[in-house]
Amino acid sequence: MANYKSPPAKIISIKDLENAALPRASKSVREYWAGGASEEKTLAENSSVFDEYRIRTRVMVDVSQIDTSATLFGRKYRLPIGFAPSAFHQLATDDGEVATARAAKAHNWAMGLSSYSTKPLEDVKLAGGDSAQVLQLYVFQNRKTTEDLVRRAEKAGYKAIALTVDTPVIGIRPADIYNDFKLPPHVKLGNFGADQGPIDNPTSPQSETRDAVTDESKREDLKNTNTLDPSLTWEETIPWLRSITSMQIWAKGVATAEDTEAAIAAGVDVVWVSNHGGRQLDSTLATLDSLPEVVAAARGRVPVHFDGGVRRASDVFKALALGADFVWVGRPVLYGLLYDGQNGVELMQTIFETELANIMMFAGTTSIKEIDSRRLVRKGLRIEKL
Ligand code: FNR
Ligand code: LAC
Repeated sequence: MANYKSPPAKIISIKDLENAALPRASKSVREYWAGGASEEKTLAENSSVFDEYRIRTRVMVDVSQIDTSATLFGRKYRLPIGFAPSAFHQLATDDGEVATARAAKAHNWAMGLSSYSTKPLEDVKLAGGDSAQVLQLYVFQNRKTTEDLVRRAEKAGYKAIALTVDTPVIGIRPADIYNDFKLPPHVKLGNFGADQGPIDNPTSPQSETRDAVTDESKREDLKNTNTLDPSLTWEETIPWLRSITSMQIWAKGVATAEDTEAAIAAGVDVVWVSNHGGRQLDSTLATLDSLPEVVAAARGRVPVHFDGGVRRASDVFKALALGADFVWVGRPVLYGLLYDGQNGVELMQTIFETELANIMMFAGTTSIKEIDSRRLVRKGLRIEKL
């Protein structure tokens, strides 16, 4: 649950930003954003696991020029860090995801847009330009609604859909249940029209999707409604998506070697290691602990992306060193947005930009591709070289 101290005098770290931002939100929004599943062990460990690694520096390397850029879709972004898709940005600021997209574009960062955006994907594309290339996809039982969304994204110029594969249902999130989390009336979903019928908010305690899996009568009621489809499989869903779009298809939420193999066999273009920021199953692996097995299983066949618990550029450095090709941050974007809309998100970006260049100078890595496992040790009973 959200845990913050009094606001700092100056904001120079993501922790400072979090402390300054969270008191600005209502209890229920704060806890929806900062919170996670059940006892929040995985939420905590996603961040604390980074501390189990230490960076091996190299000195007397010419670090007078550092190239922090990374490539997606053949295009250079300023950093190997993007905005992970997250729902309901209008809870923080009136312009919602349009403000977020403006920040992404201003700093030349990549942004993932949630299906549960409060602004239409077309408006976000216009505001974000080449920074808004990835639409996160939830597949509804009503496949027609899903198909319309995918086709609209393609038409608007998005280059990839990131299918979230870790959400057959929303996790058990105590804070949202205690707070009876609901969207305030002024916050509406931006990606769906009235003709598509009601869209279920799966994060609301009123969503009936959870019981439907075990209750046959409810299951029938939900068929063809706009509720999350818990029947997705690699074999059925990826080919179906392929048949309706020529955008790249990414799988967001992979945590094991087995699923990496299955995802690649099904033809995905990117495997994205994520546990949804510790919001789904508690007590599952921290994502940094999943990363090595996924990288090994992928064997370079597709890029491996990563998110979870990243709050400093040293966390990014460690994920890259363990084989991630691109890293995404979730809650830091929301903290920036809450703190000061677009400007707050840009402040968050500046913090990561400053920190990453600084670390790369000390590590003697002048470009992202030089960051590899030789730069890390894992702390344990012994110090071990990887
Ligand atoms: C998310 N995340 C998410 N993921 C997704 O695929 N679709 C979504 O709509 C959302 N919504 C969402 C809302 C909020 C409030 C949060 C915090 C997260 C998960 C997100 O993409 C990402 O996986 C995690 O946020 C990464 O962890 P950190 O960086 O927040 O620790
Ligand atoms: C969440 C959903 C919407 O994590 O993905 O809240």
